[in-house]
Amino acid sequence: MELFDSKLHDCLRGDSPLISSIARHLLKSKGKRMRPAFLFLSARAADSYSEYAADASLAIELIHTATLLHDDVVDESDLRRGQDTVNHKWKNLISVLMGDYIFAKAFRVMVGTQSIELINVISRATERVSIGELRQIEETENYSLSEEEYLEIIADKTASLFSVSCESGPVLTGRDKKERQRFAEFGEKIGTAFQVADDLLDFVGDSEVTGKEPGNDVLNGKVTLPLIYSLKSVGDAAGREMTRYLQDGGGEESFLKVHDFVTETGGLDYAYHRASELGEQALDSISSLKPSIYHDSLASMVRYAVSRAS
Ligand code: IPE
Ligand code: IPE
Ligand code: MG
Ligand code: MG
Repeated sequence: MELFDSKLHDCLRGDSPLISSIARHLLKSKGKRMRPAFLFLSARAADSYSEYAADASLAIELIHTATLLHDDVVDESDLRRGQDTVNHKWKNLISVLMGDYIFAKAFRVMVGTQSIELINVISRATERVSIGELRQIEETENYSLSEEEYLEIIADKTASLFSVSCESGPVLTGRDKKERQRFAEFGEKIGTAFQVADDLLDFVGDSEVTGKEPGNDVLNGKVTLPLIYSLKSVGDAAGREMTRYLQDGGGEESFLKVHDFVTETGGLDYAYHRASELGEQALDSISSLKPSIYHDSLASMVRYAVSRAS
């Protein structure tokens, strides 16, 4: 992780005064660095750590950072990692272009590994992030979105980068398809659980801890698992009434009302339950690995991803 950190700092030194000041802002507040941690631990657990693992983790974390710069414009978010978003501190245009710049950096880092297969899997994952974000926009205010459709969207927008993180070690060391697949599957499940937990935090999170403002999803018409479950479980008449209320929109008050609705009708409990189930499925996919401290750490990371508060 130290190697990753120093590479990240070198990479974001900045090629102009504006880029430098945004890069400084971004580096001031670290993210959780879940994707690099999953990458290193998976690589070690699979006995497939190589000198290029750090570059793969850097490329993926850069892509993650770039997607956040774009996502905060899309979601009109003001707070990220406990500080102003780039779109809020500067403006949308700057956040979008800085995101493009960081994507371009990621491509160069990827090419530096000289692994066509790594470039292939990371490119595909990046494409999936865009597909997921666009699908989500298409489904804005679709209050009849099914759980299955929701899971497909979050698998694309979020699990994709977790999956490729877990697969990178085996890819870089030329492991066979089956071994790669098992780590890709592990990442896919844990990434999906991670986003279900994130969507829960949009209802119950404390901005002092998450570093993000809760309530954004409801206000932006983003339909997530607690609401999907609750709307379905209350039946047609009550569901229609809530849907009408949501369609009319509203401010803080509407968030509180929806918050109470998903609490009282079991939507929050259900989403917690689904996140833990996905976490269990993730662990199942690597259960036949030989025991190691890396395997144990992956299991701890899975528990954290599901029940985290930040
Ligand atoms: C935020 O990801 C976006 C989602 C996929 C939920 P993280 O929660 O990993 O963000 P940082 O990097 O820790 O800030
Ligand atoms: C995750 O989506 C962002 C991407 C996968 C690009 P969200 O919109 O749910 O994430 P936050 O809540 O802004 O971190
Ligand atoms: Mg978003
Ligand atoms: Mg967002």
